[in-house]
Amino acid sequence: MNLLFLGDLVGRSGRQAVIDCLPFLKKHARLDGIIVNAENAAGGFGINEAITQELFEAGADVITLGNHAFDQKEALVFIERYPELLRPANYPPGTPGRGNTLVTLHNGKRLLVANIMGRVFMNAMDDPFRTAERIIEECPLRSQADAIVIDFHAEATSEKQAFAHFLDGKVSFVVGTHTHVPTSDYRILSKGTAYISDAGMCGDYDSVLGMDKEEPVQRFLSQIHGARFGAALGEATICGVAVQVDDKTGLSKTIEPLSLFGALQHKWPSFLTGEQEFLASVLN
Ligand SMILES: [Fe+2]
Ligand SMILES: [Fe+2]
Repeated sequence: MNLLFLGDLVGRSGRQAVIDCLPFLKKHARLDGIIVNAENAAGGFGINEAITQELFEAGADVITLGNHAFDQKEALVFIERYPELLRPANYPPGTPGRGNTLVTLHNGKRLLVANIMGRVFMNAMDDPFRTAERIIEECPLRSQADAIVIDFHAEATSEKQAFAHFLDGKVSFVVGTHTHVPTSDYRILSKGTAYISDAGMCGDYDSVLGMDKEEPVQRFLSQIHGARFGAALGEATICGVAVQVDDKTGLSKTIEPLSLFGALQHKWPSFLTGEQEFLASVLN
């Protein structure tokens, strides 16, 4: 089973590039499941219902969020209507929405996805380690899920690595998000879980973390908050990572990065099909 995860969609640039590309990837790349983190999809801050619908219609199977989950206040209400739109599972009890979902993919396989937030340099969330433990105890790999992907939305690479080792052998893939910077440490851990510290972002990399660069630079220089941050609107890079999951064990065989367009080097995972068709369609 081949799964694709795309890092935080930032603003119109990242969002539209992903919406334009997902139908092609779904059709040509031999992907069984697509997960996107869309916590910055609405102008850089949160997600609204129209964007949620567009991403699902384009081919996303599950959407994850993070610390920006509820920046758009309408999300507090509409999130209840979309079981495949996840906010971090370790928000306090009573928070609207859900943090994990079990979906049946078009190939008939059961995919459990959870969104969990770290605590180091982040909000005071409930314990992410025990939250993950509880979720996979309720829906273990192999007996109840054919693959398990956890989007660990966190700042510190130490916490991300510790979290991944804690879950090694129990889930298919731990993917870090939140920093908006892709890391090159993608690998299979010793007990078979695929891991990357951060999937990066889908957005304009000629920016500061996807935000128009003027205001962040001024804030560092002056220590004064001037204008609001606005999402950068230049050409987006679509950035993420794909894993090949073993159908028998539910663990991962391969993990490779994907990046298309924009500022980063072109990368197409070797086990996905469709690269030549994709390049031809871009050139035309
Ligand atoms: Fe983000
Ligand atoms: Fe975040």
